[in-house]
Amino acid sequence: MNLDALKALSYGMFIITTRKDTKNVGCLINTVMQITSKNPILAVSINKENYTNEVLKETKKCAISILSTTASMDLISKFGYSSSRNTNKFENRNYQNIQELPVIMDDICGYIIGEVIQVIDAETHDIFLIRIQQTEMISDTAPMTYKYYQEELKGVSPKNAPTYQEAKKENNNAIRYQCTICGYIYDNSKEKINFEDLPDDWKCPICKVGKDKFVKL
Ligand SMILES: Cc1cc2nc3c(=O)[nH]c(=O)nc-3n(C[C@H](O)[C@H](O)[C@H](O)COP(=O)(O)O)c2cc1C
Repeated sequence: MNLDALKALSYGMFIITTRKDTKNVGCLINTVMQITSKNPILAVSINKENYTNEVLKETKKCAISILSTTASMDLISKFGYSSSRNTNKFENRNYQNIQELPVIMDDICGYIIGEVIQVIDAETHDIFLIRIQQTEMISDTAPMTYKYYQEELKGVSPKNAPTYQEAKKENNNAIRYQCTICGYIYDNSKEKINFEDLPDDWKCPICKVGKDKFVKL
């Protein structure tokens, strides 16, 4: 099936967080949608493999930080490419404890606090229906859209993101290498330096792993 039309769907960029005992947990998501207006409810899609999914089913309380266009790739890759299962994503981050939740405050337009009222099974993902309890605007900087992330920051999405699509072959003769962690493709024909000549300490621009995590396509 040709999935190109799905690329025309619009999304924002968010960090959803929760807290289990004293452990702060959260991940990057692009699937937050307001689905009712009276006493409003949001729908959020979270992969069943994500630790945030597991913890949110227990805690049933979360914060959603709405990223602005000033958000760094460092923040995005930390929350979007590593797991809270084995990483403290909140170390050296600007977050505030609000309603006993760790709310990411770095480069955000605002945040939403809510309570999970239902979890709907969607095969690889669960849809969390979240009743909004509190919202705050923090800055009037433009919110980051998924399109901005893809086009301006050259960002891609990992397999756990609902919008993940396998990269297409563009030029069969080009020598290309793909990051096995985030899917980023380094195409020698589009870069000034060939992948083979990059320095040993070169890092993937998206998820910051080294050259050894790349495979030749
Ligand atoms: C741009 C972007 C969008 C993403 N959107 C989603 C999403 O909507 N739902 C989801 O489950 N994972 C999404 N992810 C993937 C999770 O952020 C990623 O799997 C994360 O490592 C999970 O962390 P956790 O194990 O701490 O929950 C996205 C990642 C990126 C980079």
